[in-house]
Amino acid sequence: MKNLVVLISGQGRNLQALIEHCAAGRIPARIAAVISNRADAPGLARAAQAGIATQVVDHTRYPSREAFDAALMQAIDAHAPDVLALAGFMRILTPAFTTHYEGRALNIHPSLLPRHKGLRTHEAALAAGDAEHGATVHFVTAALDGGPLVLQGAFTVLPQASATVLAEQVMREVELKIFPQAIAWLARGKLALQDGAVQFRGQPLAAPLTLIDLEDDFR
Ligand code: GRF
Repeated sequence: MKNLVVLISGQGRNLQALIEHCAAGRIPARIAAVISNRADAPGLARAAQAGIATQVVDHTRYPSREAFDAALMQAIDAHAPDVLALAGFMRILTPAFTTHYEGRALNIHPSLLPRHKGLRTHEAALAAGDAEHGATVHFVTAALDGGPLVLQGAFTVLPQASATVLAEQVMREVELKIFPQAIAWLARGKLALQDGAVQFRGQPLAAPLTLIDLEDDFR
């Protein structure tokens, strides 16, 4: 059984999926703690509801990114995590932080990386007239939304789509499937980062995995 720590900033729908997959044994990990940078993150209630320890490390109380990241690392490391899940964690992290967790930390990003890094990805996909949109799980490195890609889910953008509808579809059809799957693979030791490259089942990954590669439990 691995120790999993989950970082959130918001609603916690991805967190909820992790909670359920862990409880059902499909992810071989226990969620040791859920940590938020915002005291008002609704996701904290989901964790409490599931009997998981929660903690707030409020970024506004620290004079610098470095000071915040140091406090956050201390809070995380108190739980000796094997895996760190950035489940809608909306802070830019310093290299000291990303280096410390390199190979242990996965982020979920709501676009087909490398397209549309940063915020407002659904608006960006629409503005660019993208034929496809989706979400990506990647290893966390110092490059913002730029770490090695692990698993990506895509769908065709309908002509009438709005950013709100698109966000909903990305969450339901992609994020809530690919993030738990990738976390499960990392927890099982199927996934690794070696010299900056993703290894899957002991082989280098030439291209990110896709929805086709999901195990039945995660579809
Ligand atoms: C998700 O779209 C995630 O990809 C993005 O922030 C959102 C978080 O949603 N980084 P939730 O907190 O999991 O509901």
